Amino acid sequence: MSVSVIILAAGAGTRMKSPLPKVLHKICGKEMLFFSIKEALKISDDIHIVVFHQYDKIIQTTQKAFEDCLDKINFHLQNYDCYPGTGGALMGASQTPFPTKYDKILILNGDMPLITQEELEKILLPISPITLSVFTLENPSGYGRVIVENQKVQKIIEEKDACESIKTISTANAGVYAIHKSILETYLPKLHNDNAQKEFYLTDIIDLASKDKIDITPVFVDEKSFLGINSKLHLSQAEDVMLERLRNQAINQGVTIHLPHTVYLEADVVFEGQCHIQPGVCISGKSKIVNSVIKSHTVIEDSLIENSDIGPMAHIRPGCQIFNTHIGNFVEVKASKLTGVKAGHLSYLGDCQIDKGSNIGAGVITCNYDGKKKHKTIIGENVFVGSDTQLIAPLNIQSNVLIASGTTMTKDAKEGDLVVSRIKQENKSGGFYRFFNLFKK
Ligand code: UD1
Ligand code: MG
Repeated sequence: MSVSVIILAAGAGTRMKSPLPKVLHKICGKEMLFFSIKEALKISDDIHIVVFHQYDKIIQTTQKAFEDCLDKINFHLQNYDCYPGTGGALMGASQTPFPTKYDKILILNGDMPLITQEELEKILLPISPITLSVFTLENPSGYGRVIVENQKVQKIIEEKDACESIKTISTANAGVYAIHKSILETYLPKLHNDNAQKEFYLTDIIDLASKDKIDITPVFVDEKSFLGINSKLHLSQAEDVMLERLRNQAINQGVTIHLPHTVYLEADVVFEGQCHIQPGVCISGKSKIVNSVIKSHTVIEDSLIENSDIGPMAHIRPGCQIFNTHIGNFVEVKASKLTGVKAGHLSYLGDCQIDKGSNIGAGVITCNYDGKKKHKTIIGENVFVGSDTQLIAPLNIQSNVLIASGTTMTKDAKEGDLVVSRIKQENKSGGFYRFFNLFKK
């Protein structure tokens, strides 16, 4: 589509009460700005992002996340000191607004991570010099109020500049605008900052254009997709909406999720085949779950799980690859590759590789850290690790090895070994009675 997109991401975001720039706050594991960029890239090959506060951090993280399409993304530094505000974001450049590739320009606030390609396309549909996204809200507080007469927008009044009667208007500015470049060129230089916030409001273009009899078409949009995030409360509300979308997407794809509202998924999680997710599960990062059952209250981070059942109450930390494996309750696994393994209860398996047919008894711990460095534990096929064994890494245990319960293992084991490291048990007859000074009847 021949449209350029400008995303406003220069604001300080003081209402977030956080040192992080507002647009880098995450929902479902991903920076809110990145959701808008992803949707914008579906409709345009010419994206312009306006930055100012902590611009180096925003530019760096964005470039890393979108390294495959950097030719389509341009950054512009707002001249904030002279031109603060959403209108100011587009002013002060040598060419006003920017050297965009196309005449039709879609302007998005960078704090609206829930917008979708479909909603953006709706705003681009009307043939009108200016199209404005609006919604009718039960509680419009915080948003600019929109005055619509005869189906045309007349004016936007910001909450901070509104009198009590304007505040009762429930039609609000949703924050996305489709504007012809010539309109911006005409009206941006006419903006002033004579208002409560002493800022140059982009929204004042509406009033100026409407006085010149230019048609401004309102497009009514869904509140859920246009939530503007100005506070941590808004952030959590947006995450709720995004989570519902991610879970529904997985369910529609064939994943069974029990009590879906209790399940937390992040935006990059991928499912394949027949997967079952029980209540209270949390799957984050770039995890991929293939034909597996994830039982209640299990946490999986940045890991691949294939043909396995995990949990309940297991913790799979980043960097695991788990195939054809059973992981039971209270088992923690980190940066390990397990193939065809059974680890049913109460274990820590870190930095290890375990092969098929091996059984990890209850309470087995890989002691992978010596206080300075991490070490690996390699376990071959058909190894039986008895309960309460400590595997002091680095260790190499070949296939077909039997490790007795309670062993503290410090040396490698060869194919066929039985490993025991405990002192012999001694039963002292009558010791109980002597200890408690009792006489045997
Ligand atoms: C803005 C609109 C309001 C609308 C609401 C929708 C204006 C004046 N008001 O208010 O009518 O109802 O969005 O969510 O536009 N930004 C800059 N440079 C700046 C200031 C802000 O790039 O100098 C960016 C911010 O990073 C943010 C976006 O513009 O991504 C919107 O700014 P914000 O302060 O959130 O505006 P709102 O008060 O929400
Ligand atoms: Mg906002």
